[in-house]
Amino acid sequence: MMFELLLVVILAPVMFLALRKTDDTNLQIGVLPLAILVVLALPEESAMSASVAVALGTVGYLAYFFGARVRREPMPDYASAGSSFPAPEVALSDGARASGGFMPTPAGPDGPYYRPNSPAKRQLAEDGTKGEPMRFAGRILNNDGRPVEGAIIEIWHADGAGEYDHTDFNCRGHQTTNQDGQFVFDTVKPKGYGVRSMSLIGTVDFRSAHIHVKIRVGEPTFTTQVWFPDDARNRLDVAYWAFKKTNVVEFEPSQPVLTARFDFVLDQAG
Ligand SMILES: [Fe+2]
Repeated sequence: MMFELLLVVILAPVMFLALRKTDDTNLQIGVLPLAILVVLALPEESAMSASVAVALGTVGYLAYFFGARVRREPMPDYASAGSSFPAPEVALSDGARASGGFMPTPAGPDGPYYRPNSPAKRQLAEDGTKGEPMRFAGRILNNDGRPVEGAIIEIWHADGAGEYDHTDFNCRGHQTTNQDGQFVFDTVKPKGYGVRSMSLIGTVDFRSAHIHVKIRVGEPTFTTQVWFPDDARNRLDVAYWAFKKTNVVEFEPSQPVLTARFDFVLDQAG
């Protein structure tokens, strides 16, 4: 009896720690099946105690997980991203941001949070939107590297707390490029969202910070996403892995506001 109790006291925290330490990784999905296999391999007199330990560790982890969700820290409330931005011309880079010169920017899916019919605007984030004020600027080029005038670029993204506006058009809008193919959105830096990638209880909707983009020059519409180079969640965002060489913004140095820069290259001749 003493031995069984000791087994539970030792193994339950081990189970809890195994789940806790694999938090936010794809390894977590394997912890419970592995523990069950270990229990099945044990001699009968130990198996019952080990099962209790696995159950206790798992229940303890679930309590910890949901407790942490309830206590989730609020994002700092940044100053309004209103019209206080200065509006200097953004210096243009020499070439496309995509690797290999004017290689077309790879396309990506819409994702689940697109809302059609967004308004035309430059100031994308309403006053009081959570997040660091950020300018998102760049150009739309054809595959000769020449600017595309009159392209409609529509973007949508989560705010600095990782929340999309599902009822209105905050952090959603479109513009038409000028004769230099330029666009400039004043918004906030988005935050990633989702809690787990493939955990026991989490969501598969785990994303690092990104901006969704649609570009229309006639038909069809080109859709993609761009990521940020400084987001620690990138390594866990499966979508990022496929686009990390081509669809990552650059931060423009020496700008009065944080400026993220990306030139989109369309797969069309000039
Ligand atoms: Fe998204």
